[in-house]
Amino acid sequence: MLPRKPFTLEVAVFVEVDGIRLAYDDQGTGIPMVFLHAFPMNRTMWAPQLVALSRTARVITVDLRGHGESDAPLWHYSMEQFAGDLCALLDRLSLAQAVFAGLSMGGYLIFSLLRRSPHRVKAIVLAGTRAAADSDEARHARFMLAQVAYAKGASAVAETMLPKLLGPTSLTSRPDLVERVRSIIGRTEVSGIAGDLMAMAERPDSRALLPTIACPALVIVGEEDTTTPLQEARLIADQIPGARLEIIPNAGHLSNLEQPEAFNRALERFVSSLR
Ligand code: MLT
Repeated sequence: MLPRKPFTLEVAVFVEVDGIRLAYDDQGTGIPMVFLHAFPMNRTMWAPQLVALSRTARVITVDLRGHGESDAPLWHYSMEQFAGDLCALLDRLSLAQAVFAGLSMGGYLIFSLLRRSPHRVKAIVLAGTRAAADSDEARHARFMLAQVAYAKGASAVAETMLPKLLGPTSLTSRPDLVERVRSIIGRTEVSGIAGDLMAMAERPDSRALLPTIACPALVIVGEEDTTTPLQEARLIADQIPGARLEIIPNAGHLSNLEQPEAFNRALERFVSSLR
């Protein structure tokens, strides 16, 4: 078994899926909401949502394979495999359906889940994500980042990623948050980082899927997000029938951590509209 790297607010629960252990938190009662983290983060990035939303909903935050306290097997990763892991977790929890909230890579995973098992998806929150597949240039950048991870370790990846994940407001005025994100990334296994990079590089284009999405959808973007800028969020919100778009001021890519109150308000409004 690989060594555990605790960076959690809660004591994780573990489930065995496909020969590996996945860690998750499960708090509150009510409508089940599953939160899917960004690359190369882990479930602890959802701490502000776990606290606020679990007052009125059942909040499940998952360490995807390769992250946090889940195992990080050295092998080929894919969005379909992540989606399979999630469906196995839902089975284990006896949940037929849930609301899924994903940020960036978590959003790519929601698209995969919608393709694989749409009946398990009650509603979606797509935060800081994009529907298009990678360009050749983006795929090459993923390969280069995997080489950084291999040669210099996760802390070098953290330095590359910080300006992409946090907006200028947080970078200049929230040293605590900068340190927290740096620490989460620095503790991530290189096998998990490389696995994600492969999975993201190979993910299909989801733009044609958008008009077919039949469940309620909320799209969220930080107004300072340069990784998945406003136009990506607008494209998604315009194409999904009935989707709502919320723009979070003074936030970059990790808008849920940078402006948790505004992010939570948007989530709470959306969840109440589902009840
Ligand atoms: C993320 O936040 O999950 C990543 O920035 C997504 C990506 O690299 O495409």
